[in-house]
Amino acid sequence: MILSRRLHPPARRGRFNIIWKGSVPMLENDIQEILFSEEQLKARVAEIARQIEADYAGKEIMLISVLRGSFIFMADLCRAIHLPCTLDFMSVSSYGKSTTSSGQVQITKDLSEDITGRHVIVVEDILDSGNTLSYLLKILENRHPASIRLCTLLDKPERRVKPVEVHYTGFTIPDAFVVGYGLDYAERYRNLPYIGVLKPAVYGG
Ligand code: PRP
Repeated sequence: MILSRRLHPPARRGRFNIIWKGSVPMLENDIQEILFSEEQLKARVAEIARQIEADYAGKEIMLISVLRGSFIFMADLCRAIHLPCTLDFMSVSSYGKSTTSSGQVQITKDLSEDITGRHVIVVEDILDSGNTLSYLLKILENRHPASIRLCTLLDKPERRVKPVEVHYTGFTIPDAFVVGYGLDYAERYRNLPYIGVLKPAVYGG
């Protein structure tokens, strides 16, 4: 049984350990270790952008962000790519109301644009079990894009259940509960400017 996408149990609704200083929650106190600083993220995003520019020279690309976790990576990546580019967004839910991954994925917000004949790059924050992306890529391939590739900021290969072909990876990481730079725990921590490991005490680990 697979529970969280990012670690073994924590339920989506967990207890929080947010320390308030005045009216500002001190999210930083819940971080055990910074894995990737703002500077490291910026440098890696720029490297991926250069790689994409080289691979798609002379072409227009369409970046598809899978909400919500990828929104910050998408914003930084698209601004680092100097190619004609369109953007679109979709939302999927692979866990429904449960914390258990059934492998069943539902599109909760579809794309606004037709991807037929387009050079599509799906932009994700994290690839874990592969359930979400293996399903999503099949759905998108059936819409006949000219090409489709996956770009993920983080990859946790040791958690993979379904194989997924990845063309652009920011960082390969171990099986730790990571938050920040778009990634959440129970919807918090997305606004941290770096990627850090959450203290196990926060999610009762
Ligand atoms: C994350 C991530 C992927 C998915 C990967 O989304 O953005 O879509 O998990 O996990 P998998 O490889 O095990 O399928 P999440 O459900 O946490 O939603 P969010 O993007 O809104 O944070």
